[in-house]
Amino acid sequence: MSIGNGDSAGRTFVFRADTEADTAGFAARLAALAEPGAVLALDGDLGAGKTRFAQAFAGGLGVPGVVNSPTFTIIKEYEGGRLPFYHMDVYRLGPDEADELGLEEYFEGDGVSLVEWASLIEPLLPEERLHIRLTTTGPTSRTVECRPLGGRYEAWCIQLGITEIAKEETAE
Ligand SMILES: Nc1ncnc2c1ncn2[C@@H]1O[C@H](COP(=O)(O)OP(=O)(O)OP(=O)(O)O)[C@@H](O)[C@H]1O
Ligand SMILES: [Mg+2]
Repeated sequence: MSIGNGDSAGRTFVFRADTEADTAGFAARLAALAEPGAVLALDGDLGAGKTRFAQAFAGGLGVPGVVNSPTFTIIKEYEGGRLPFYHMDVYRLGPDEADELGLEEYFEGDGVSLVEWASLIEPLLPEERLHIRLTTTGPTSRTVECRPLGGRYEAWCIQLGITEIAKEETAE
């Protein structure tokens, strides 16, 4: 059964960031691997660093200019980088509104989609995606937990050389 973040078949990889620069560096390395139609599903508490991650990811794609939080606009599109970048924040979205946004057009598009608070729209996410959960572990430290759904994302995690953690054998 798939519970929560759709992790039934998933492997889990973890990167530990001691500083904001570590998070940014990791996001930029991920951006270097990104391909058209890639979907990153970000979760994590308020202030965990989802938007900071998105900014560094955009920087890694070579998106020019400032990438801000799309909390009130829901979706912002950025051109001018190696690939188009679609930055979404669905925190304030009701389920009906989410349906009407036509998110699948973005997910299937030529760009890379990054969704903050993605678990809120889990049923609308494509089957294959990279889940990323940021957890605050100290004033500047975060864990970045990556759960790839689909071979392409699994390959990214392996290429990044991050630590795979053993599957929990309890409470499945
Ligand atoms: N290791 C780190 N990684 C990311 N951000 C960090 C780190 N250390 C400190 N920070 C700070 O944490 C804050 C993260 O804020 P950010 O807006 O990215 O969070 P968020 O997850 O998008 O929150 P929200 O849910 O409100 O949108 C920033 O002020 C950033 O400077
Ligand atoms: Mg944010």
